[in-house]
Amino acid sequence: MQQKSDSSLSILNLLQPEYTLNPYLLYHQLREHDPVYWDQRFQSWVVTRHADVIAVLRDPRFTAKRAFQDAFWESEDFLAAFGQPVRVLNRQMLFLDHPDHTRLRSLVSGAFTPRVVENMRASIQHEVDTLLDDIMPKGGMEVIADLAYPLASTVIATLLGIPPEDHAKFVKWSDDYGALIDGNKSQIEHVICLLQSFSEFTNYFRKFVDQHKSDPQDDLMQAMINAEEQGGRLNEDELLGNFALLIAAGHITTAHLIGNGLLALLQNPEQFYQLKQNSDLISSAVMEFLRYDSPTQSTERIPIVDLEIAGKHIKKGQSVLLGLGAANHDPAQFPDPDHLDLSRTDNRHVAFGYGAHFCLGSPLARLEAELAFNTLLQRLIQPHIQLEKYEYTPSIAFHNLKYLHITFT
Ligand code: HEM
Repeated sequence: MQQKSDSSLSILNLLQPEYTLNPYLLYHQLREHDPVYWDQRFQSWVVTRHADVIAVLRDPRFTAKRAFQDAFWESEDFLAAFGQPVRVLNRQMLFLDHPDHTRLRSLVSGAFTPRVVENMRASIQHEVDTLLDDIMPKGGMEVIADLAYPLASTVIATLLGIPPEDHAKFVKWSDDYGALIDGNKSQIEHVICLLQSFSEFTNYFRKFVDQHKSDPQDDLMQAMINAEEQGGRLNEDELLGNFALLIAAGHITTAHLIGNGLLALLQNPEQFYQLKQNSDLISSAVMEFLRYDSPTQSTERIPIVDLEIAGKHIKKGQSVLLGLGAANHDPAQFPDPDHLDLSRTDNRHVAFGYGAHFCLGSPLARLEAELAFNTLLQRLIQPHIQLEKYEYTPSIAFHNLKYLHITFT
């Protein structure tokens, strides 16, 4: 089949207010128009069916090496100025294939197994309680800044071995990192600022690497440094790039899972009551928040040969945007997909991706969210809780709240 396009339909429409608020409207339009769609404006294929997204993510003919390796990034001038951050970005496991990907992932995967994460339950609960003890008497909060970010950043930073006084620093760096991998390169000046920010982010770790080398600690950073020193199993770019990845991936998304999930509950009061009355639902509830309104809305893969997806001819090297959020609302996979159903069974959402790059931190993200929601629901009493105002950040790859103000009595 030939590529066909309708210039009014584009994933870039997500940047318009109507779709920033509700991206699922656009995904339904795209899926109904053409589920494997050549987006002329975005210069990428856009895949919106659950079955097709899974098929691509398990297909070895696609590479995860992508955003930072195309002509835009590889011009001589650009590399002369930004070679170092671009090189470091490209050494993150997220953007690598086997065997480099397997090597890097295996170095850190032990820190995120369900058993290891379960041992963090008491300390995460303590952090949730401390934050809420401070917030509750105030009668209101901005959920993202007051609760979600401090919780998620403290948990991942502590795991990595970063001191508490520095936690606030990497919130902006992580947000900038998210914007960098968002894939919208239309404003070059903005991309340059984001790269400068990423440079600062990775340089910041050098001091910890030196400190850990002279005074070894019992943390994840030390384990990665030992691997660099002893076996040469990762080089310095990989060390710094993957610290940044763990910090950024480890808290932006988790924080926004708490924000998006709470907003969904407030907009569906009957589900709020259901969960408050039955805390055994918490695990399936968090999975439903992830499906219903995931912080991660898409990822990208590139075919290494010419091939077909659902009958469409895709050329080697063309970008393929995989709509994770779209797949999570595909009616062929999920009955009544736009309805929040906390007791949904067979919830095969792809909010954490699928296949070799399946989210490494999913057990940690789920536990943090479960503890945050359980504790919040014990303390918040409907109908004395008011949703004041909220706004989403325009983005292609993420659906994240800029702010979410609530008040309670
Ligand atoms: C990968 C989502 C929390 C670390 C991924 C991917 C997704 C995702 C979709 C796959 C990307 C792709 O295939 O291109 C999420 C969501 C989270 C979350 C929705 C929270 C709600 C975390 C946490 C960590 C983490 C807490 C902590 C370390 C990673 C890493 C990868 C990854 C390191 C790359 C894995 C690889 O390339 O093998 N995540 N994530 N994530 N995530 Fe998460």
